[in-house]
Amino acid sequence: MTTTVKMTDLHPPADDVRADVLEGLQAEGQKTVPCKYLYDARGSVLFDEITETKAYYPTRTEMSIFDRESASIADAVGPRAAVIELGSGASLKIRKLLDILDEPAAYVSVEISKEHLAQSAEEAAQAYPDVEVQAVCADFTRPIEMPEIEADHDSRLVFFPGSTIGNFTPEGTRAMLARIRELLISEADAAIVGADLEKDPSILREAYDDPDGVTAAFNLNLLERLNRELGADFDLASFHHEARYNDQKKRIEMHIVSDREQTVSVAGHRVRFGAGETIHTENSHKFTTAKFSALAGEAGLRLDKAWTDENDLFSVNLLRRA
Ligand code: AVI
Repeated sequence: MTTTVKMTDLHPPADDVRADVLEGLQAEGQKTVPCKYLYDARGSVLFDEITETKAYYPTRTEMSIFDRESASIADAVGPRAAVIELGSGASLKIRKLLDILDEPAAYVSVEISKEHLAQSAEEAAQAYPDVEVQAVCADFTRPIEMPEIEADHDSRLVFFPGSTIGNFTPEGTRAMLARIRELLISEADAAIVGADLEKDPSILREAYDDPDGVTAAFNLNLLERLNRELGADFDLASFHHEARYNDQKKRIEMHIVSDREQTVSVAGHRVRFGAGETIHTENSHKFTTAKFSALAGEAGLRLDKAWTDENDLFSVNLLRRA
């Protein structure tokens, strides 16, 4: 495939899996592993499968909001926007957005995985020959220096769908919103951010522990990754997946639970587990529109519009500079 897309490599630092995992597993109290390590090649495939399960409502609900509100979204954003997508895992969503918008001028895909980035940007360039497509290899959890966009455009639109905003700590969410704010340079610029809404915890528990066991496989795949990459000897048969709703913090927590007392070797270190002890692998925070608006306000953004589905499961939020 010939490459027509301009690639800017901001050289995101490589992960130190060993140091991060040992720090999290040797911590006093709750053991943790950063959720980004769930997404190796198999983890990414399993995540895509999760989004297609009946129980996991966020992806299809967000897509249905784009369909239902397409005219209103296009009208609010205005013509000739340069779209900057943070994390290019959602090719279906960017296509939906580019299809909705009025004459989008440019699409800049920001993604940490160079391979994934090159492929998705190239596909977008072929599908949208009238749109200037650029690729930026960068970690969006750090400040991003944007390359020059050549196409004439009337505004920038930062696109951060999928409720990844809920996977940070509250401080991390504020910092992420502040980085989005930094990318908005004029009054006309805006951001579209997906945020999952608070709801009946039984719906959440099912979404994060689907009856087909896809989410369980996704979570436990982390142990396989540690066995492979760090020479660990986790016995997968003696751990299980659990999705817990933390009502105080309004978040789903994914845990890997040890079924018995055991000692595991990880990168040459012995890690002890009590029966029932867990590794906390992910948080997925749920918001109300009022709470999301307040968080955005703390980051110098104002919530201009919030589109939701008919059951108020998910929200698509339009943010501007406060
Ligand atoms: C990527 N992120 C928005 C997903 C979520 O819903 O928090 C990750 C996920 N974990 C288990 N299922 C989905």
